[in-house]
Amino acid sequence: MSTAKKEYKRITTKSLVEMKRNGEKIAMLTAYDYTMAKIVDHAGIDIILVGDSASNVMAGHETTLPITLDQMIYHASSVVRAIERCLVLVDLPFGSYQGNSRKALESAIRIMKESGAHAVKLEGGEEIAESISRILTAGIPVMGHLGLTPQSIYKFGTYTVRAKKEDEAKQLKKDAKLLEKLGCFGIVLEKVPAKLAKEVAKSINIPVIGIGAGNGVDGQVLVIHDMLGMTHEFNPRFLRRYLDLYTEMNGAFKNYITDVKSGDFPNEEEQY
Ligand code: KIV
Repeated sequence: MSTAKKEYKRITTKSLVEMKRNGEKIAMLTAYDYTMAKIVDHAGIDIILVGDSASNVMAGHETTLPITLDQMIYHASSVVRAIERCLVLVDLPFGSYQGNSRKALESAIRIMKESGAHAVKLEGGEEIAESISRILTAGIPVMGHLGLTPQSIYKFGTYTVRAKKEDEAKQLKKDAKLLEKLGCFGIVLEKVPAKLAKEVAKSINIPVIGIGAGNGVDGQVLVIHDMLGMTHEFNPRFLRRYLDLYTEMNGAFKNYITDVKSGDFPNEEEQY
């Protein structure tokens, strides 16, 4: 059953702003490969985020910092080849835009040219305003990312809820307005109090997509491995698991191993 207020053949940045205006929530998930992206797109997702969380869930790094621009382009181009409807948004990885707006533009252009994605996402507020502006002048749509920004993990030291204190909340509200003014088409808001997130979403006309930011925002995003229950060790309060794929897959692999070792697989019908 679709709960969409309007059917879109293709999701664009304009559709997303229109969804916010119409009060339709935006559904976003991460994906990093062709097969998964095809399933997610066919299910009707609005945005696939080729997140730098690939560094964690695909490559096994502890943080998002090690993933490279070339690796992001590889993941993004695999996703782009799979999709027919959704918008493909790609994270600019750590080190590809901070502190150098010319480099930021070059990185964004490489993503757009080499992967065929539709937009890029950058973490930060006023400190990266120049990079965002420069990318936007090239006609590349930009989504901002405020609150918990995992690329700055060593600055903050923990992955706990952000902007609980008044001064940080004030800066976050200011940054959200700035990102809208610069021309971003949306903002991801990660792990901030629900009341603050709702206030931010109400204060701007571009969609706010939350992760651990409550229900008062314009859409939600989850990391696909987490919502499918493939990552057992990651259990934040905001995560709803829709499957327990870890257990399902573990069972399937065990059955396969048993069948191979017992000589049950392949049987007469499974050979030539
Ligand atoms: O990289 C990622 O998956 C993200 C989401 C957590 C928003 O940025």
